[in-house]
Order: sequence, then C-alpha cells, then structure tokens
Amino acid sequence: MGLFKQDVRCNRILNECKVMSTYNELTDIDIRNKNILIREDLNVPIKNNKIINDARIKAAIPTISYALSKGANVGIISHLGRPIEGKFDSKQSLKIVAERLSEILNKKVFFEEQPLDTKSPEYKNKLTLFENTRFLVGEKSGDEKLAKKIIKNCDVFVMDAFGASHRKHTSTYTVSKYVPVCCGGLLLMNEIKNIEKVLKNPSKPVLAIIGGSKVSTKLNILKKLTEKVDTIILGGGIANTFLLSSNLPIGKSLAEKNMVSDVKEILRLAKKNDVLIPLPKDVMCQSLTGIRNKNVNEVQKEDYIKDIGSKTSIIYEKLIEEAATILWNGPVGVFEDALFENGTKNIARSIGNTKALTIAGGGDTISAIEKFISMEKLDYVSTGGGAFLEFLEGKKLPGIEIIKKL
Ligand code: 3PG
Repeated sequence: MGLFKQDVRCNRILNECKVMSTYNELTDIDIRNKNILIREDLNVPIKNNKIINDARIKAAIPTISYALSKGANVGIISHLGRPIEGKFDSKQSLKIVAERLSEILNKKVFFEEQPLDTKSPEYKNKLTLFENTRFLVGEKSGDEKLAKKIIKNCDVFVMDAFGASHRKHTSTYTVSKYVPVCCGGLLLMNEIKNIEKVLKNPSKPVLAIIGGSKVSTKLNILKKLTEKVDTIILGGGIANTFLLSSNLPIGKSLAEKNMVSDVKEILRLAKKNDVLIPLPKDVMCQSLTGIRNKNVNEVQKEDYIKDIGSKTSIIYEKLIEEAATILWNGPVGVFEDALFENGTKNIARSIGNTKALTIAGGGDTISAIEKFISMEKLDYVSTGGGAFLEFLEGKKLPGIEIIKKL
C-alpha cells in the first residue's frame, strides 16, 4: 500500500514537472520513422589534420544514439571553425569528424559533402553528417531561403548545439521557423538544467573563478557575478587589469588599459553587494633576467606576469575549500607552459578534491581540466565557451529560445 501510494505521488510529481517544463524536449516526442535533423556543435580543435580534443563529439553521442535507438532517420549538421562563406576549405571540412564519430559510435556515418544549398538533406542513409554549415552563403546572416533548403524533408529539428546557441545563425535559429516540430536534444537540456542549478538557489558560499586574457570579453559576466556570488577569484590578463586599476605595477604584462574605468565599476558593484574580490598578493614574473615569484608591489618595468604566485595560490585554494558552489571559467596563468602552470594546476586540483558543487566551461578551462585532473572530477563541464558565459549572464540565447514552449 505504502509503495503504491509512493508510486502515485512520484507519478504526480513527474507529471507536474512535465507540465512545468518550459522546453520542448526530444525525449517527449515520438520520432519513430521520422526524419530528424540534429544541430550539433562539432567544432573541435584540429591540428595537422588530427582532432586534438574530441570532447564535443563525445558529448553529442547521447542525443544521436537516443534518436537512432528510437528508430529515427538521423541527419546531423554543424559548423567547424570560421571559414569564409561560399568558399570550401578542406582544413575546415567535417569529413574527419564523420570518421571520428563513426569510430565512437561503432557505426557507419555517411558523410554528405554536397553543400546543403545545392542539395537538401536526404535521410535514406539512416545516419548522415552534412558538410560544414559555415561554408554556406547566408548561414551567419540567418538567411530564410537557406533555412528552407536545409529544413526540407525534415519532420523534427533537434537543437543540441549548446556551444553555438548564442549564435542567431540559419542552422541554429532560422530553420526552426520552417519545421513542424522543434525541440532540445539531450546535451542541450543537460546543459540548461545543470547551469540553472547554479543560477537558481545555489548552496552558499558561491565562488566564481574567472581567468583568461581580457576583461572586455568577460565584462558582462563579471558585473552579473557581483549580484550572484560571494567571492570572485581572478587570474590571467584580467587580474593584471585589476592590479593596474589598483595602481599596482604590472610591467609589460598583458592588460587592457582602456578597461580601467570598467574595472572600477565592477569593484564598486562588488563592494555594494558585499562580494569579495581578492586580488593576487604575488605573481610569477618573467623578464630577460629570469623567472621570479614577486610580491605584486615589486613587479618591475621589464617584467611579464605569467601566473599567480605561491602565496596567492594558497589563498585561492583555501577559498575553494570553503566554497559550497564553484563556477570556473578561464585559467589563471599561461598553463600551457610548465614554468607557469602551477596556479591553474593548483586550482584544478583543489576543485577536483572539493565536495562543493562544481561547474566549469570554456575551451581553455576544459584543456586545463583534462591536463591536470579529469572531467569526471567536476559535477558538470559545459561544452560551451561564449554560450556558457552568455547563458550565465542571463541573456536570451537564440538557439535556446526556439525550443521554449509558447
Ligand atoms: C565555440 O567554439 O565556442 C562554438 O563552437 C561557437 O563557435 P564560434 O565562436 O565560432 O561561433
């Protein structure tokens, strides 16, 4: 009797959740024998004709496997790199991605090299990857005619490219206007649900770690974070610009002098909202005379700051230990170079050991996680870079708007 009662209650909660879900989801749609077109973000780094990191291909597998297991005829589209529209470039062809996808799935992936503006998708091969959407004229401007060609013969459009959902392109947005059903794939829904976990009622204290080269690319997120978190740790060129704004010497280090007033505004907002932004106390400097760990007030004219220093590392590790929710985007030093990897390595390791809810995103951050710990050590690693930041900022992303229920 108790079990039965519980079952009824569980079903009621599940039904309520479905009613409350604001998104059209692939898992709620019957796709047997339907032609479905999945927009993935298979934009992977390629060097010397080799895929350096296939994390984005692997992340797309659950949606593709699900669709195949439900008996759908599957077509996949994606962009790769930033080629010139209308110009084929073999270095940015998705052919190599089709091969890797086929290996991972252990299944033949038919690769269609004919551009979609000359030949609309056909689904007879069961599983087809079409050539790079960014070779098509009109992709970036959201061209309506191109959208109609791409979406021809399609019954269900599945948006799964979280990493490209901030782009209002033909293949991420316009196609949705001309298809009977449009929904979110498993990867996209997973991204939304995990990032929303951090945005809505996170356990406190909340810590954000924001590194990378430029304040200008992260200005909005930094401002937004002053409303959401308790502490913001900074690193890289961003931290240098903050040091400069506090009248500390940074020598020849990477910084944005024109952002000083914006930095002051961020510091003002942080103070108003009682958010701690602990600036580095010491830094690793490189100059013609060598490499030295220096206090921030000792940096000389000829120095380049390349990493946070050892004292700062200890302070940051302590803050990571104390946090209940951690959000990480961007390295705190030039971690690709073993001489300047310690700051980022210590952060990665501390994050890997904490019991806090941990979430990270961005290409460099993923590389650092893979280099020093592993993806499994975090609760969630987003496939998005720019999209991850814009979603955190609370912006409406075109590729996510199209799957919202009316
Ligand atoms: C990314 O790598 O962030 C996405 O694939 C989007 O690529 P884009 O910045 O070239 O639009």
